[in-house]
Amino acid sequence: MEIAIDVRDLVKIYPGNIVALRGLSFKVFEGEVYGLIGPNGAGKTTTLRIIATLLRPTSGNVRVFGMNVLLDPIRVRKQIAYLPEDAGGYKRLSGREFIELMARIRFKESRDREEYIGNAMKIADLGDAVDRKIEGYSKGMKRRLLLATVLAARPRLAILDEPTSGLDVLQSLKVREVIKSYNKNYGVTVLLSSHNMLEIEFLSDRVGMIFKGNLLAEGSPKKLKELSEASNLEEVFKFFVGKGAAG
Ligand SMILES: Nc1ncnc2c1ncn2[C@@H]1O[C@H](COP(=O)(O)OP(=O)(O)OP(=O)(O)O)[C@@H](O)[C@H]1O
Ligand SMILES: [Mg+2]
Repeated sequence: MEIAIDVRDLVKIYPGNIVALRGLSFKVFEGEVYGLIGPNGAGKTTTLRIIATLLRPTSGNVRVFGMNVLLDPIRVRKQIAYLPEDAGGYKRLSGREFIELMARIRFKESRDREEYIGNAMKIADLGDAVDRKIEGYSKGMKRRLLLATVLAARPRLAILDEPTSGLDVLQSLKVREVIKSYNKNYGVTVLLSSHNMLEIEFLSDRVGMIFKGNLLAEGSPKKLKELSEASNLEEVFKFFVGKGAAG
């Protein structure tokens, strides 16, 4: 199996001596959905931003499909699409204009652009609101629009930071189905973070639990449940945080 992401010994110290990552290592294989879980402030977003070439680590390295994210960020960016934790931007455009803009940025051929626009419109599923300005969208509408522009590109790797945060139950279910189908049907490798353990269990082939900038546990949802003698991932989470806190 090809390695999609190889994270090695990442350390990130923010200004003010805030240590976010303390030597984090893990691998994601091509075709996999890998879920990152962990308490608030554990280092998930920091990790995703480093992999997405948007933040430099203090030390350590990451390879994406064999390419070094520190030396070759532009080549890496061509293979990935990233959904930030809190994205706003482009408020004056309508949803449709935003999707069309993203199509122009991503694709040269008009046929590719048309296909991308069609896919994104379907995922965003905004109805009449697609022609209204984004500044008037609810949180969930914005989230769906952004997610649509990320997935519709069918990137080789999608990095999704809390993809369904702010979405209602039905919208979350829909978004999970879309993520799963892009993984299954188009082979999109997915690295996501989430606080929703149902979502993590539904989507992830393997789960990595981050605690204070370290990987505390890793495995399939089934394996993690066995290890902690838990019946669901919320109990798994509690078990490992308790273990981590106890040292
Ligand atoms: N720009 C920044 N400057 C200083 N410290 C930061 C910055 N970004 C994150 N941190 C700190 O780094 C640590 C990890 O933060 P990070 O956002 O990666 O956590 P997280 O696991 O994504 O949390 P959450 O579940 O709340 O999204 C925290 O202590 C946080 O305060
Ligand atoms: Mg975060």
